[in-house]
Amino acid sequence: MCGIVGYIGKADAPTVLLNGLRRLEYRGYDSAGIAVLDDDRIVISRAAGKVAVLSDRVRAEWPAERFARVTTGVAHTRWATHGPPTEVNAHPHLDRSGDIALVHNGIIENYRSLRSRLESNGHRFHSETDTEVLAHLIGECDRGDFFQAVCDALHQVVGTFGIAVLSAREPEKIITARRGSPIVIGIGAGETIIASDAAAILAHTQRVIYLDDDDIAIVTAEGVEIRDLHNIPVTREITELGYDAAAAEKGGHEHFMLKEIHEQPDALANAIRGRLDFNLGSAVLAGMGTSARELADLQRVVLLGCGTSMHAGLVGEYAFEDLADIHAEVQQAAEFRYRNPILGSRDLVIAISQSGETADTLAAVREANQKGAFVMSLCNVVGSTIARETGRGVYLHAGPEISVASTKAFTCQVAVLLMMALKLGRGRRFSREEGIRFAREIEQLPALVGKVLRQNARIAEIAWEYAFNEHAFFIGRGPMYPVALEGALKLKEISYIHAEGYHAAELKHGPIALLQQGTPVIAIACDVPGKDKTLGNIEECCARGAKVLGLVTERDHETAERMHDFITIPRCHPLVATIPAVVALQLFSYHVARLRGCEIDQPRNLAKSVTVE
Ligand code: G6P
Repeated sequence: MCGIVGYIGKADAPTVLLNGLRRLEYRGYDSAGIAVLDDDRIVISRAAGKVAVLSDRVRAEWPAERFARVTTGVAHTRWATHGPPTEVNAHPHLDRSGDIALVHNGIIENYRSLRSRLESNGHRFHSETDTEVLAHLIGECDRGDFFQAVCDALHQVVGTFGIAVLSAREPEKIITARRGSPIVIGIGAGETIIASDAAAILAHTQRVIYLDDDDIAIVTAEGVEIRDLHNIPVTREITELGYDAAAAEKGGHEHFMLKEIHEQPDALANAIRGRLDFNLGSAVLAGMGTSARELADLQRVVLLGCGTSMHAGLVGEYAFEDLADIHAEVQQAAEFRYRNPILGSRDLVIAISQSGETADTLAAVREANQKGAFVMSLCNVVGSTIARETGRGVYLHAGPEISVASTKAFTCQVAVLLMMALKLGRGRRFSREEGIRFAREIEQLPALVGKVLRQNARIAEIAWEYAFNEHAFFIGRGPMYPVALEGALKLKEISYIHAEGYHAAELKHGPIALLQQGTPVIAIACDVPGKDKTLGNIEECCARGAKVLGLVTERDHETAERMHDFITIPRCHPLVATIPAVVALQLFSYHVARLRGCEIDQPRNLAKSVTVE
C-alpha cells in the first residue's frame, strides 16, 4: 500500500525513480510524485492518476539536460488514506522551508495533535495528509543535523512508516527508516536504491538489506549505515535476491494476471520441490521448526488471513481435519484481536499472507504470540514483516506476484497447506502407504494445472456468455466451498460484476430469491463428497431460469450434460482438485474482465498489499 523509491548514485536518477515506481504501482496507483536534488535545490513534480501521468509531466516540464544530470531523489505512488487522490495530497511533501522532501508509506496516527502543535508554531499546511505533518516536524527538529532531525521527529510519531527523506542542506545522503512498513535497500556499484519492495531494485542489483522496525539508515552512493532510533549502530546482513528482473516483467503476456495464471505449474513445482518425502510418506518442511512430539501434541490449528489468503486457509481447514484429524478453524485476521481468541501452547497458528505485510494479519500474529500459541507463517515475500516476526514457517517460492488479484500465491498457499496437513497427518492418522499416496497426488499438481490451462481458449469462448451480466453466483460444497468464495472474489475484483460465493446448500436459504432468467450460476460440480447434493442444488437453480456454468470432473459426461457450459477438472483427490478448479475460475474471471475492458492488473480502489487496518 503506497510504494516508495529513493535513489542516490549515477546520473539520470529520475528515470531510475520513475521505472522503480512503475514496478511498485501494484501497491497503489491513484497519484504519484517525485522530488530530486538539482543544484542543491529540491525540485518536485506530482500528479493525480497513474505513474504514466507523472512520467509524461516530468518529461514535459523538466529540461532534458537537467533531467540527465540529477543523481539523487525520492518518489512515491499512492493509495490514498488521508485526503482524496489529488495532486496536492500526492507525495513527496515538503517541510516549511522547502528544503526537506519526504515520501511515506504507512499512517501517522497522532498527526492531528502534531498538526495543531505545529500550526500554533506558525506552520501552514497545504494538504490533508498525515505525511505533510511529518515533513514539517522533521523541518522543525532540524538544527543543523539532518539525521538527528529525522530521529527526533520519529520519536514523536505514533503509527507506522516506511520513509525516505531528502534534504537540500545535506545533499550527499538520503535518510530512510521503517516501523511497520517495509523498506529494502539495494546495494549497487556506485549507486544505492531504497524501495518498499525489491521489485524496484531488481534491475540494479541482487544485493539487498531489509530494514527492521525502528531502524534508520543513512544512505549514500557508496552504501548504507544503519542505526536504531537512539543512534546506536546496528548490523543487518546483505541478502541475495535470487531472481532476476524478468520475473517482474509481463514476458509477452497482455497482463501480469494472465502471466501469473500461466506460471502456476512452475510456481507449484517450486513450492513442492524437495518437500515431499516418498520414503516416509510425509512432507519435509524444516521451516516449521517443530518436532514430531510437538506436532503430535497439538490440539488445534488456527489459520489467519485476509482476502484470498483467508480463502486458502479455508481449504486448509478441510485438509487439516480430513488428513490430520485435528480441529482446524479459520479466523478473519482483522477480527482476531478484537475478540477474545482462546489460544494456548498446544494451538498451532498459521498466518497466511502473500505479501507478509498485511496490517491486520500482522496484528493477529502479535496477538497470537501474546497468547503463547505456536505461531508460524506462510508467506511468499522473503524477508517480509510477518515472516520475520513469526520466525518460523514456510515460504511459497511462487516468485513475485504483481497483479493485484492474487492467483499463483493462492494455489501455492493451498499446496503448502496440503503438505503441512500431510506432515501432521502422518504423525496422527495416516499410514506410510496413505501418506505416500497423498504425496503422489500433490506431486501431480503442476501437470493437473497444466490440463486446465490448456482449456484457455475454450474458457475465453465461454466467457462471452457470462461477461455482460451484472450478477453471478458461485456455489460449491466441502473443499470446493472456499473455491466458490475465491471464484466470486476474483470475478468481482477484476470485472466489477457483483459476484457472491455460497455453500451450495445455502443458496435456497435466501440468495435464490435473486435468481432470474439468465442469472449466471457457476457451480463446482466435480467429484467431491456431496456432489450429488450439489447437482440437486443446480437443478433448483435451473428451474428458476439460471444459466449454469459447471466445473465437472473429466470424463463425467453425465454431469457435463446437465450444464449450459462446462470446464473440465482433472480427476484427483478432492482436496488436490481445489487447485485446478480455482485455476479454471481465475481464467474465467480474467476473460470476462478482458471482454468488459477492465483494468485487469490494477482494479479500481484496490491495492495489493494492505498495510492499514
Ligand atoms: C489485498 C489484496 C488481496 C489479498 C489480500 C491479503 O486485499 O488485494 O489480493 O488477498 O490483500 O493479502 P496478503 O498479502 O496478506 O496475502
